[in-house]
Amino acid sequence: MAYITQHSAGVPAPVRIGLIGSGWMGAFHADSIARRVPGAVLAAIADPNVESAEALARSLGAAKVTPNAEDILADPEIDAVIIASPARFHSSLIAQAAAAGKHVFCEKPAGQGLEELDAALAAVQASGVHFQVGFNRRYAEDFLAAKKDLSAGVAGTPQLLRSLTRDPGNGSIPNAARVPAWTIFLETLIHDFDTLNWFNEGAEPVEVYAVADALVEPGLRDQGFLDTAVVTIRYSNGAIAVAEANFSALYGYDIRGEVFGSKGMVQAGRATETAARRFTSEGMSADTPRLNVELFRQAYTDELADFAAAVRARRDGLPPSSSDVTLTPGASDARRALAMALACIESVKHGAPAPVPAPAASTVAYAGEKS
Ligand SMILES: NC(=O)c1ccc[n+]([C@@H]2O[C@H](COP(=O)([O-])OP(=O)(O)OC[C@H]3O[C@@H](n4cnc5c(N)ncnc54)[C@H](O)[C@@H]3O)[C@@H](O)[C@H]2O)c1
Repeated sequence: MAYITQHSAGVPAPVRIGLIGSGWMGAFHADSIARRVPGAVLAAIADPNVESAEALARSLGAAKVTPNAEDILADPEIDAVIIASPARFHSSLIAQAAAAGKHVFCEKPAGQGLEELDAALAAVQASGVHFQVGFNRRYAEDFLAAKKDLSAGVAGTPQLLRSLTRDPGNGSIPNAARVPAWTIFLETLIHDFDTLNWFNEGAEPVEVYAVADALVEPGLRDQGFLDTAVVTIRYSNGAIAVAEANFSALYGYDIRGEVFGSKGMVQAGRATETAARRFTSEGMSADTPRLNVELFRQAYTDELADFAAAVRARRDGLPPSSSDVTLTPGASDARRALAMALACIESVKHGAPAPVPAPAASTVAYAGEKS
């Protein structure tokens, strides 16, 4: 029986998704697709670590398993892929997926260099597939509420912006020696760069000045390991932003954003796990979020629901869903944030401010992007 005939008339066929990379983030995305995103099906998993892929497929009761991403890309039953492999593979996987006509959700960063990312995004543009990058903070309830306020002009003209990431830790970083160079900019602060760009919509980042060190693992400083960083950013509209990160907050996972402007201030960031507080003879206390998948469980789900809806709309020739604010992070967002991370690396190397390359002409406006 043909696949399509298994669905009654009027019920759209589910979006069939192939997962590429079944590690920490890929496994969580697979779980979201299988259990929490209506209208999407986890159809296949590719990972050279087949045991990992098989275990995940078993736990979710579904999916073909293969060691090769190419098998998923060649599978005519797959509509779209989620790329959650290590970052060094992202650009080439995006390009291959686009060439195979698969819609792409790619974890951040979408690439590690502008040249490779531009080639991948050119393939996306040429094929016309939908592309989304994993800047999940946009989908967090408080960040989205802040964005709506900013779009309504609540803060007026932005003057100062702030975004911070403090990853949870116990005062030391497991496997720190194996963390790829410049991870703090390319994989951590890249989230903050996107938040700042999104909050300061319409402005371009023009210059960064990054200061970074190994303060959690000072023994690894000589090997170039960095676990703490502060970046100042100048924007084309004159606004000045600060982004900061540390890899080991003992109290949990701490993510915040703020815009201060001519009319006021808007803040986002949830310091406590729930709204509950304990008041005892010792004072007041509350639980804090410990993991990204706790703090952003809903945001990770909603970003994939947005992706699945966009893929379904493209596939079935429906109008794209609309939002009252710019939401879906796409090609130019992926490129803008990467350009900032790469400029930070130059800034640290030279101990001086570094220019952020202007958007490539071809990435100023991608087909289907709102901004
Ligand atoms: N958005 C977020 O908040 C967030 C959080 C964590 C990680 N991430 C991103 O997700 C990506 C993966 O990170 P992770 O922590 O899950 O890493 P991980 O090491 O836990 O998982 C990576 C997986 O990819 C597999 N893999 C390696 N090469 C592959 C290839 N060529 N094709 C397919 N699979 C391959 C590995 O075997 C492994 O199972 C990174 O880009 C990271 O920055 C995003």
